[in-house]
Amino acid sequence: MSNVLYIKNASELITVRGHSEKPAKKTAMSEIGIIENGCVLSKDGKIVAVGTDEEIRNEHQDLVNLAEVIDATGKVVTPGLVDPHTHIVYAGTRENEYAMRLEGKTYMEIMNAGGGIHATTRATQQASFDELYEQSKARLDKMLLGGITTIEAKSGYGLTLEDELKQLEVAKKLNEDHQIDLISTFMGAHAVPLEYKDNPEAFIDIVINEMLPVVAEKNLAVFNDVFCERGVFTPEQSKRILEAGKKYGLKPKIHADEIESYSGAEMAAEVKAVSAEHLLRASDEGIKAMAENDVIGVLLPGTAFFLMADYAEARKMIDAGMAIALSTDANPGSSPTLSLQFIMNLGCLEMGMTPEEVITATTINAAHAIDAADRIGSIEVGKDADFTLFDVKNHLMLSYQYGMNHTHTVVKKGNVVVS
Ligand code: NIG
Ligand code: FE
Repeated sequence: MSNVLYIKNASELITVRGHSEKPAKKTAMSEIGIIENGCVLSKDGKIVAVGTDEEIRNEHQDLVNLAEVIDATGKVVTPGLVDPHTHIVYAGTRENEYAMRLEGKTYMEIMNAGGGIHATTRATQQASFDELYEQSKARLDKMLLGGITTIEAKSGYGLTLEDELKQLEVAKKLNEDHQIDLISTFMGAHAVPLEYKDNPEAFIDIVINEMLPVVAEKNLAVFNDVFCERGVFTPEQSKRILEAGKKYGLKPKIHADEIESYSGAEMAAEVKAVSAEHLLRASDEGIKAMAENDVIGVLLPGTAFFLMADYAEARKMIDAGMAIALSTDANPGSSPTLSLQFIMNLGCLEMGMTPEEVITATTINAAHAIDAADRIGSIEVGKDADFTLFDVKNHLMLSYQYGMNHTHTVVKKGNVVVS
């Protein structure tokens, strides 16, 4: 049975078309391809036609006759939202550390005292596969309700070969079972385990020589990421880990300049990373180098919000020619949100982005950041029929009415999965 779906008469059908080859930069980030009274027809999970009702019926009347119809009158339709940086597979929560930070302790103080990433690592190591699966699935369910149809998911709370594999295997099974697609990143270099505190090089050897080859051989990740930060991994160590990953076909990503300016952005340009993330403290030289080397900046304003830090300079980065994507950074320590819509609000209100730019940053540019822009991220013929319908009359309402879930309906590969 073929599955034909016709979404008709959206007050705004936001296609974000025209940026599938290369991420949108500068003024192109504002070109979101709005079709008023827009319609989209899909068959067997792929988009067949996009336009007005008249245009589509002229070409495809027979198919439209067969279709399940969704009337999107008064609603905004976007490509299914893409969240390109999450740490969604973990066990436990860290609300105790949140309370400590509200009393003045810093994120790094808590981590250096054995909490932070180490606390979640202990909980994740102790959790069974099924426990980890169930806790992570519950989060994915909420993300789907928020209109997200694809995410990137990092390991990095295992920190032993066995536990990193467990995390990646859970992500793989969730990708198979859940409506949300997960694209995996290996992040064995997320923290130096406490037992290697005095000999981080020994742990780096394990990541490079014992973990990377197995992860690659089992085909459990597309990307390789590292937390480059003072007190975690130095730029030199990070570079070594990312270069080693490249040899196994894992594409580099990097957590850069999150807490301190540490030449992370510069290093991302040097290793030609697909993306560098956070960048709260990226230097002007780093921004220039990223723009010149086509490294996408994945900005995570939820982290600045939650750590009560200064935000990344999105306006400066866009004006300098960097392609920008936005993401939740969903994790239990620095950004325990699952709402990409709230992140869009923060993009506008705290980082000087326009309502159009934040849509580009959570659709096509986010898809580029996970190397999936040939399949997802825009409403164009041939792409996956992933759509989010929002219960608002125009796209400005999405960030005007902030901190809310405006999702009305979610379609994944041509199937209605939230209604
Ligand atoms: O992206 N910075 C490193 N990793 C996460 C935080 C992880 C945690 O605190 O558990 C981040 O902010
Ligand atoms: Fe992160």
